Amino acid sequence: MNDWMGEDESQEIHKGLEGIYFTESKICKVDGQGGRLYYRGYPIEALALKSSFEEVCYLLLYGKLPNKPELNNFISGMKGERSLPKEVINLIKETSGRAHAMDIARTAISILPAYDKNAYDASEEANMGKAVKLISKLASIVAAIGSSSRGRYTAPDNSLSHAENFLYMLTGKKPDKEKARLLDTMLILHAEHSSNASTFSSLVTGSTLADLYASVTAGMATLKGPLHGGADEAALKMMKEIGEPENTERYINEALNGKARIMGFGHRVYKTYDPRAKIIKAELELLQNDASKEVSNLTRIALTAEQLMVEKLGKTKGIWPNIDFFAGPVYTWIGIAPELFTPLFAASRVPGWCAHIIEYWRSNRLLRPLERYTGQVDLEYIEIEDRE
Ligand SMILES: CC(C)(COP(=O)(O)OP(=O)(O)OC[C@H]1O[C@@H](n2cnc3c(N)ncnc32)[C@H](O)[C@@H]1OP(=O)(O)O)[C@@H](O)C(=O)NCCC(=O)NCCS
Repeated sequence: MNDWMGEDESQEIHKGLEGIYFTESKICKVDGQGGRLYYRGYPIEALALKSSFEEVCYLLLYGKLPNKPELNNFISGMKGERSLPKEVINLIKETSGRAHAMDIARTAISILPAYDKNAYDASEEANMGKAVKLISKLASIVAAIGSSSRGRYTAPDNSLSHAENFLYMLTGKKPDKEKARLLDTMLILHAEHSSNASTFSSLVTGSTLADLYASVTAGMATLKGPLHGGADEAALKMMKEIGEPENTERYINEALNGKARIMGFGHRVYKTYDPRAKIIKAELELLQNDASKEVSNLTRIALTAEQLMVEKLGKTKGIWPNIDFFAGPVYTWIGIAPELFTPLFAASRVPGWCAHIIEYWRSNRLLRPLERYTGQVDLEYIEIEDRE
């Protein structure tokens, strides 16, 4: 122990908090070596194939799969929260196109306490209600941001599922069943991922006993970055720059020779193939011969780039595709614009954030790590007139 200013220099610094456990959780298991992912113990493959986003939200929040009456009740609760306050719709109309969709979505979420009489009720029951509100309203907010480019807000349709209603509000048209099914799968795959940066950020805010809206707003701010939720938009941008499938090899080689990062590859925890990316890849393979040249080109570029990267970095350095790499072409096929990718990611992840914050509050402790000070002390204050 170095007693100078109480700094303990024997303590190792864990840059990026890598390898640090800060709490226990029963929500999600990421097996980064085995390439497995479980929500509340259920393998992601089974949930992606058999479940619905609504059911996964219930599972994450309540810790068990619902029976039929429980699920129906939960779905009715979600439907009851789809509509948006007119001020939020106006905010979206006023600001659309003037800031990134993620900034607008985050701002819209942070004002929702103004329309919730239980906003500051800290009971678990009230927080579960707020979680349902946040899940439903964030999807409507993202759809409204997307539809504002058409200049028209479409009110929700409660005869539709969560994914179908999102597409309906986005396009103003009854959604294609297959596109809604694939969107539902994407929502499930993005719903939760243990203590990733945005979940951790929402927990830091929650640990101060700020409310659920504030905590989710913090999570959204953190998700925006290209090293996290912004990676899918950045990966699609790269695929568009590549343009034609035959340019892929040259582009990837030049990028890697120039030490550039290929967005959608690498992960702090997965040191093998991300199981979510495997599921999306299988869906993407079906789109290679899609009638739209844009979709088939993007799909082929993505699959060629993936093969090259697996050869060059996967097998040698353990850098494998993550969920964000294949998402862009899939969303393009569904009809979702690139600027909506990250807010849509937030709309998928909000049940995970809420489940974690509510769980953490059961044994809350303020999150407050240390930094080792390496600056000077006891400097003499010099009046401004006397400074050089
Ligand atoms: C996600 C990410 C931040 C995890 O990074 P990390 O655990 O901190 O790993 P590091 O940044 O220390 O990278 C380790 C090595 O792999 C390389 N690397 C990591 N991701 C890479 C990528 N996407 N493309 C090329 N090289 C990559 C780094 O350059 C570094 O190489 P070096 O050891 O020769 O310096 C990182 O992989 C990344 O930036 N990926 C792209 C963004 C992305 O897809 N994010 C979504 C994650 S779900």
